[in-house]
Order: sequence, then structure tokens, then C-alpha cells
Amino acid sequence: MTADVKTVHVSLGERSYDIKVGPELIARAGTYLKPLLRRARVAIVTDENVARIHLPALERSLDQAGIRHDAIRMPAGESTKCFAELQRLTEWLLETGVERGDLVLALGGGVIGDLTGFAAAIARRGVDFAQIPTTLLSQVDSSVGGKTGINTPQGKNLVGAFYQPRLVLADTGALETLPMRELLAGYAEVVKYGLINDRPFFDWLETNLDGIKSGDVAARTYAIVKSCEAKAAIVAADERESNVRALLNLGHTFGHALEAATGFSDRLVHGEGVAVGMALAFDLSVRLGLCPGQDAARLRRHLERAGLPCRLADVPGLPDADELIALMGQDKKVVDGKLTFILSRGIGEAFITRDVDPAALRALLKEREAA
Ligand code: NAD
Ligand code: GLY
Repeated sequence: MTADVKTVHVSLGERSYDIKVGPELIARAGTYLKPLLRRARVAIVTDENVARIHLPALERSLDQAGIRHDAIRMPAGESTKCFAELQRLTEWLLETGVERGDLVLALGGGVIGDLTGFAAAIARRGVDFAQIPTTLLSQVDSSVGGKTGINTPQGKNLVGAFYQPRLVLADTGALETLPMRELLAGYAEVVKYGLINDRPFFDWLETNLDGIKSGDVAARTYAIVKSCEAKAAIVAADERESNVRALLNLGHTFGHALEAATGFSDRLVHGEGVAVGMALAFDLSVRLGLCPGQDAARLRRHLERAGLPCRLADVPGLPDADELIALMGQDKKVVDGKLTFILSRGIGEAFITRDVDPAALRALLKEREAA
């Protein structure tokens, strides 16, 4: 609606929607949401941290737009993405009288977005939802593309649904209150887009890392818009991950196993697992003779300079290589018992393969265990 707000369109036929990126979008949310509403009420789902900092501005904005609202504050953290909290949230939605055609609003990071999207998908067999992502990770990745779900003791995101939001409002101002560790976790997913198919973007990140870390709004906005454009293009081509969408999982086969191995706890947050996983995916690509060693080294240097973990040794208390490989076997991308890997021919040249020699994988993890 104003020049300072950029729009990325996710083109999915009747499920298409816009991602708005810019300042003060939480304070302007009522204006953006009103045209989407069948009746002037929404249910807000947030977590306890985000509620303290950002819920009042959202509520004021909804009040100004004449939109009634109820809010639920979920516990913060990955363990909230579970059946028990899904049940509590879904029952709350039904108790507050959410009807078909009403809108549920996720205000928070990827945990809140994934859980809320899934609850919206199943409550009354589907109510509308919109995302107000407040972490860098959720602004560049999890709020876009409609993957929703929860974790189970068997692994990460194993229960869920593809369910697209009606709108995403990525307020760049929200990042000002984000702890540096969480900002960096999101930055790992930004780096991922450069690694997948955009070497010039990786070059740009090398130059602009300090600005992104220190709060340069123009640099952050550029990085968010570029990331959303990259993800939107892939999702538009393959919404339900039949082929190219799997590229977005670069680093995730390793990363999810590391997250499971650390009990989905704050010993290793999701983006950190992705950072270590991307470095390992490059190492494996080098070991298989697919990728120049200097590209793997360049990636590791960049992750280190950012302040992200990029080695198994950076994650304390991990199980041995065989147990990690067993955890990888829970990946959703396992087909006929074979793991799918996203490997690389170099920065900006990721590809999907199921032809990884298990001995090479084991040898890499054994070697890195010691490094
Ligand atoms: P998160 O939602 O746990 O948020 C991280 C922490 O930051 C939490 O403690 C939260 O309370 C706090 N927080 C959030 N916004 C804040 C703000 N503006 N100021 C201060 N504190 C704030 O974690 P995340 O990294 O946003 O998301 C990780 C989740 O996203 C994982 O569960 C991962 O599986 C999922 N994910 C999903 C997709 C997808 O496509 N659906 C993609 C990537 C990741
Ligand atoms: N984060 C992976 C995907 O959305 O497909």
C-alpha cells in the first residue's frame, strides 16, 4: 500500500497470495487484513515471548480497523510443535467460535507458523490463515510455501499438511527485537538460497553480511525479498515437493538428524542445524568428486564469519556416526529405504540425488566426528 513495502507474489492459481515485506507491518496489519475477512474478527496465535513484545501493536492495529480479536499465547520453543499443543490450540480455536471462512493469524517464528497453519488446516476441515512472521527464519522461509506441521518422537515435521496462507506480512522492524542467535539461525536459510541456484546472491551476502547483522534495514529487506522470490519461484513450480522443491531441503537431511539428536532443544536451533547440514552436504559433494573443494571451504568460511556452527564438533554431545545415519533414516524424503540428498556441484549449483554411497556418507561422518 505504501512505497516502503515490497510485494512478492506466490503464484499458485486460486491459492495465490502476496508476501509483504517492510517496516511497521504489524502496526498496519488491520488495514492489510480487513479485505480478506468474511466477518470482522480474527483469532491470534502467538508465543509468550512474541506476545510480550509485539502483540500489543497488533491488537491496536486490529482495534483501529474495527476487527475483533482473541489471542492464545503458546509456550515458546520447538517443543510446542507437538500433538498435545496442537490439540490445545485446535480446541481453543473451536471454543472461541472460529467458523469456516474466519481467519487465524500466526504471530511469531516458524514454530508458531507451522503449528498454527496445521491447526487452521484441520479445524472445521480448514479455516483461513495468515502469517505475521517475526523471526528472520520465518520471514525468509517457513511462512512461505504452505508447509505446516508438528514433530513427533519419530522425527521432525513428520505430521502435517500443505496449507497455504492468504497473506504474509513480514515486518522488518520485528527483527530489531530478535536475539542475535535467532537472527543468525535465519541467516543460514538466507545463505541456502545463494547455494541452491544463485551464486551472485551468495557473493552479495559475502559483501553485506556485516550490514545484515548490524541492522542495516535496506540490506535486510533486500535479503528477505530475494529469499522470498527464490522460494516463491520454487514453490510455484512444485507446490507439493514432487521434484524441485526438495532443493529447499539443502542441509536438512543432516540438520534434522542433528536436531533429533539434540532432542529438539535449544542446544541446537533449526537454522543452526541447517548451517552444519549445508557444510556437511558440501563436504559430501567434495568427497564424491562432484564439487570443488574451494567452494566448500568458501561456504565454511562464510558461516564461520557469520558466527554460525558449521562442524559436528560445534554441536556438543552428539551420538556417533551410525546413530546419526539411523536418525537420517526418518527423513520424509526416504524412498524405498534410500535417503535423498541435496548435493552441490558448486555454490549456486545444487541438485537432488538418491545415489549416495552409504559408505562415503559413513566415512565422512566418522572423519568429521573426530574433527
Ligand atoms: P521459533 O519460532 O522457535 O522462534 C525462535 C525464538 O525467537 C522463540 O523463542 C521466539 O519466541 C522468539 N521470537 C520470535 N520472534 C521474535 C522477535 N521478533 N523478537 C524476539 N524474540 C522473538 O523459531 P524459528 O527459527 O522462527 O522457526 C523454526 C521452526 O520453523 C522449526 O520448527 C522449523 O522446522 C520450521 N521451519 C518450517 C519451514 C516451513 O517451510 N514450514 C521452513 C523452515 C523452518
Ligand atoms: N523449507 C522447505 C520447504 O518449504 O520446502
